[in-house]
Amino acid sequence: MSNTKIWRGNSTFILAAAGSAVGLGNIWKFPYMVGSNGGSAFIIVYLVCILAIGLPVMASEVFVGKYGRKSPINSLKKLAKETNISEYWKFLGILGALAGLLILSYYSVFAGMAFSYIFNLFPSDLENPSAYSSAYFFDLSKSPLVLIFWHSLFLVITCLIVGIGVVKGIGRSVNVLMPILFLFIVLLSIYSASTGDLDATLSFLFSPDFSSLTPAVILSAMGQAFFSLSIGMGAIMAYGAYMPEKQHIGKTVLTIILLDTLVALFAGIAIFPIVFSNSFLVVTAGPGLIFETLPVAFYSLPMGSLFSIIFFILITIAALSSAISLLEPFTAWMEELSKIKRKNIVALMGFFVWFLGIGSIFSFNIWSDYKFMGLNFLELLDYLTNNIMLPLGGLFVAILIGWVLPRKFVRKNIKLKENSFKVFIFFLKYVSTGSIFLVFLYSLT
Ligand code: PFF
Repeated sequence: MSNTKIWRGNSTFILAAAGSAVGLGNIWKFPYMVGSNGGSAFIIVYLVCILAIGLPVMASEVFVGKYGRKSPINSLKKLAKETNISEYWKFLGILGALAGLLILSYYSVFAGMAFSYIFNLFPSDLENPSAYSSAYFFDLSKSPLVLIFWHSLFLVITCLIVGIGVVKGIGRSVNVLMPILFLFIVLLSIYSASTGDLDATLSFLFSPDFSSLTPAVILSAMGQAFFSLSIGMGAIMAYGAYMPEKQHIGKTVLTIILLDTLVALFAGIAIFPIVFSNSFLVVTAGPGLIFETLPVAFYSLPMGSLFSIIFFILITIAALSSAISLLEPFTAWMEELSKIKRKNIVALMGFFVWFLGIGSIFSFNIWSDYKFMGLNFLELLDYLTNNIMLPLGGLFVAILIGWVLPRKFVRKNIKLKENSFKVFIFFLKYVSTGSIFLVFLYSLT
């Protein structure tokens, strides 16, 4: 492969991978999961999963991409050929690339909603802001055309960035977007900690409720770690191909994981004090936490509308830098497979994703009664990707690097220090493989 598709300097890879990792999962899902699942007890389990499973699996994905220097599918093919293992390992890449498109189809719907909230300014003289907020969210979810508009807009921006290319599109955009994202999250946390109820937040966060840690909660913490780190579907593997040759895999992956976790924790600090500041609101609101609860909380605080706008810009940026990584694995594969220009490939796939997204939009309204095995279209897609495709992808990556590839080969190419390598292999082989296997089994029951 020519060097035109390798990012210059170490920071672009870090920003791109952190951009992929930091997304709706950190700023929307993580706080509401913490809120509904026992506060810091959930955080502790989550952190253990990040370190014991996330770190080794992410390092493995980066390793495959960097070694192969191609799309995940062709990098796996190359790896298989050079180490004389079955060529069927390429299916791992196909599974991931497909999962990316499926996830993007509904991710873009939620990102579009967050995008629309930048412009959702409450009238100034509301008697009952909670009722207003709930009605607003209800109306939005019952208006397919409005949702389609925001979904389309978000997807067009995503496709434009990916269509421009790896260096000029993805590389440049993350260099602009990520610093803004970091700045905004720090700004919001300071605002929230100083205007909201920090004491209530700290006592909530530092008094873990271990009784709420059921097996289902532990497993959802693990699933969240996967989703949040963007592992199990080749996004990080695809980016690994664009990593500079000299960049160190171990240190880089540690940095990305640290950034992802910090943003999730800061998101908690940005959201909880604001919600706690209003005694009518609860942090256990579930998925409605940021769309229904948070706007009400902002409403009653000084400069609330300004910070509400900043908050929803932050979420939109975070979602955008993740969305581009969901599209990249399939795009890179198609580019290698055909003579079609990248822009046209992206346009085609964008249309497919857009079309599929309409199914998720209809799940809120005109299709809400159509269920298959008790799940509507959106829930089915979510289940298929998060509970089946993602853990399967992660499990096979762990098996491939931990069990199947010759140890010497991995040792030579991953370039970790002797002791770090031993720990890495131990975790990958036993801890990651074993626990992902458990999540997977559980999610099937
Ligand atoms: N990590 C993203 C988030 O936390 O929102 C979601 C995601 C992006 C998952 C890219 C998977 C992926 F390949």
